[in-house]
Amino acid sequence: MAYQNLISEIKENILYVTINREKALNALNKATLTELADVIAYADKTAEVRGVILTGAGEKAFVAGADIKEFADYTGEQGEGLAREGQINVFDAIENSTKPFIAAINGFALGGGLELAMACHMRVASETAKLGLPEVTLGLIPGYGGTQRLTQLVGKGKAIELITTAGMVTASEALKIGLVNHTVAQADLMVKAEEILNLIKQRAPLAVAAAIKSINASVNEGNGFEIEIAEFGKCFETKDFKEGVSAFIDKRKAFFKGN
Ligand code: CAA
Repeated sequence: MAYQNLISEIKENILYVTINREKALNALNKATLTELADVIAYADKTAEVRGVILTGAGEKAFVAGADIKEFADYTGEQGEGLAREGQINVFDAIENSTKPFIAAINGFALGGGLELAMACHMRVASETAKLGLPEVTLGLIPGYGGTQRLTQLVGKGKAIELITTAGMVTASEALKIGLVNHTVAQADLMVKAEEILNLIKQRAPLAVAAAIKSINASVNEGNGFEIEIAEFGKCFETKDFKEGVSAFIDKRKAFFKGN
């Protein structure tokens, strides 16, 4: 797929998406968000894609936030529209995707950049990465779900401290508070993300999607237990379930087709 602001390619069932605005530290302008919405929808509907790795171009930034220059003159109504559209089409779309997304955080993940990483299902950070939600330094608050997802990941007290002080944390601090899953040397960033997806690739795709949906429901829905029960039941109707159980009984490796 040809994009202006993204590089995207599929290799061995993994879709690699690189936000490619290095001169602007990969800041998310509207055009980039539109392309991201498109590539997320593509990942969701393409069986060949078993997982997605999202990263930023260069070694300095994953994404340094929403594009400040683009919204400098916005009214309240425009600001609300920007947040609503972005949240639905990009941030919520990633979180609700049937494909696992890993953010490979290769540098600054600030504002909308950290929000993008938090919308992903897992985060692997380079040891040199710095993470934060500095919106209050601009007279704003996070608008792409940051107040909600940071609270879910690190708890209310730490989220309030990070957001109201606009403090940045290092990768090792982020690991300690549960904001990222792993930290690795910059050179090993992709290796670690691929290692996780290569394990997931061996599992039943519909069960992986059902697990993500049920786990999301624990924080986003009124009754996640009911969703888990329903998703558990649906798994019994899949061919992958028959294959998984037959493979166990036959003492062989399962071969899942995602049906
Ligand atoms: N939007 C637009 N342009 C940005 C940007 C952003 N978020 N972040 C960096 N850039 C641009 C800079 O303007 C600069 O461009 P020029 O060379 O044309 O001047 C270029 O990227 C390089 O940046 P710096 O010169 O600032 O690099 P630095 O090494 O001195 O500082 C930094 C790096 C600390 C990350 C600094 O760039 C910075 O603080 N960026 C802004 C971070 C921020 O406030 N993010 C939140 C945005 S608001 C938001 O995201 C709202 C929301 O939740 C929806």
